[in-house]
Amino acid sequence: PLPPNSIIVVLGASGDLAKKKTYPALFGLYRYGFLPTNVKIVGYARTKMDDADYKKRISSYIKTPTDTTETQLKEFLAMTSYVSGQYDQDEGFLSLTKHMEELEGDVEERHRLFYMALPPNVFIPVAQHLKKNCYPKSGGARIIIEKPFGHDLASSRELQAALQPIWTEDEIFRIDHYLGKEMVKNILILRFGNEFFGAAWNKNHVSSIQITFKEPFGTEGRGGYFDQFGIIRDVMQNHLLQVLTMIAMERPVSFSAEDIRDEKVRVLRAMPIIDPKNVVIGQYDKSLDGTKPGYQDDDTVPKGSRCPTFAAIVMYIKNDRWDGVPFILKAGKALDAAKVEVRVQFKDVTSGIFKDIPRNELVLRIQPDESVYLKMNTKLPGLTMKTSVTELDLTYKRRFSELKIPEAYEALILDAINGDHSNFVRDDELDASWKIFTPFLHYLDENTDIVPARYPYGSRGPAFLDDFLASYGYAREQEGMYQWPTTKVN
Ligand code: BG6
Repeated sequence: PLPPNSIIVVLGASGDLAKKKTYPALFGLYRYGFLPTNVKIVGYARTKMDDADYKKRISSYIKTPTDTTETQLKEFLAMTSYVSGQYDQDEGFLSLTKHMEELEGDVEERHRLFYMALPPNVFIPVAQHLKKNCYPKSGGARIIIEKPFGHDLASSRELQAALQPIWTEDEIFRIDHYLGKEMVKNILILRFGNEFFGAAWNKNHVSSIQITFKEPFGTEGRGGYFDQFGIIRDVMQNHLLQVLTMIAMERPVSFSAEDIRDEKVRVLRAMPIIDPKNVVIGQYDKSLDGTKPGYQDDDTVPKGSRCPTFAAIVMYIKNDRWDGVPFILKAGKALDAAKVEVRVQFKDVTSGIFKDIPRNELVLRIQPDESVYLKMNTKLPGLTMKTSVTELDLTYKRRFSELKIPEAYEALILDAINGDHSNFVRDDELDASWKIFTPFLHYLDENTDIVPARYPYGSRGPAFLDDFLASYGYAREQEGMYQWPTTKVN
């Protein structure tokens, strides 16, 4: 772990990511006593700001509902300071080093963690300047970087080739914040800590696995950025694929970072590239009542954009465990709900004594309201042999009502502080994931006659989605057959 007196530098301190995620997470860790003793936090960015401006900006997303948190925030802000400078010249980085040395005093070892909350076009110069000007002579340094790690295999390799000679893999922490989410971290325990799940977790019993990401809002002003990436690069090649590998990987030899990541890479390498016929893409239009704008009504979106804001991609894993089982990744903006979940649909039980008995489904709800539930058939109580679908339900708010669920960024920054790479993306893993997606992404980019299907803002996605899913054997719940119990959870 980082020793006492370490320094955490947030580069891009005036940007959105720092304000919304990095600083609130650092504050969260401070509140619960997880930051190293006497740590100092230094912001660095181009914007010229005085101390008061800086502190106002970095605390704008931090909630302080009580007097205690108010006091803690004051203490936290007292540990922070700011240096402004360019991203591509020595000068600023030299003044950052001078500032860090003043904070550290005359010590034998200096330990520095650099969090790069930066736009991708300055990743490389900043990583180079940090190494050249801010890397301690004795002690150590680490960098945290965050997507986009390129936009295809070639650009990702380019980025990697620029980083590799200056930062070792051990010093690099590539964040995919989905790996910091509580339910995603739970997947390995559920699978390998429960014999009955483990036993059914294969092609003999599983019919399909869906990983769904729904957001109820559109790009709203962020379209300029989004349009260069699209939903597939924005959340599927990274976040949803990470969830898929956790669901599909074999049991690692241990929970050590390299053992876990070895297994993840093995799954990715067993996945063929995406076949265009296994994909649906969509783009949202105005809502049916006309109150919500279509994607192309966003002024920051180029007119005539073919950018997908929705996609369903069916993927396969060519190994003994999963051959033939469709893994359906589904993601969209401006849909009917805010939800991320994994749905494992089991095969039909043998008929004969049963007619039309629904399939078992195991649902891992990643957000909101973490829960794990298994849809299970039981006899309807009473003088009848009718069956009824019920659920074995582990809703966190009910079962773990006293426990705080950490934010993904809190969990991950703490891991980086502790030097634990298990929940970060390794270089070969990143490479393997781009290999699966790149040919299809290029195919979409190049074939200008492919246009996404339109779907209304606030709907479930393109109209033919259900038929598409059904063609992979997915049996959708009959309307009204099953209802999630509506009893209030406090
Ligand atoms: C980000 C994407 O990586 O993840 C956003 O760029 C998306 O478009 C976000 O909204 C979703 O993260 P979360 O934690 O809100 O599910």
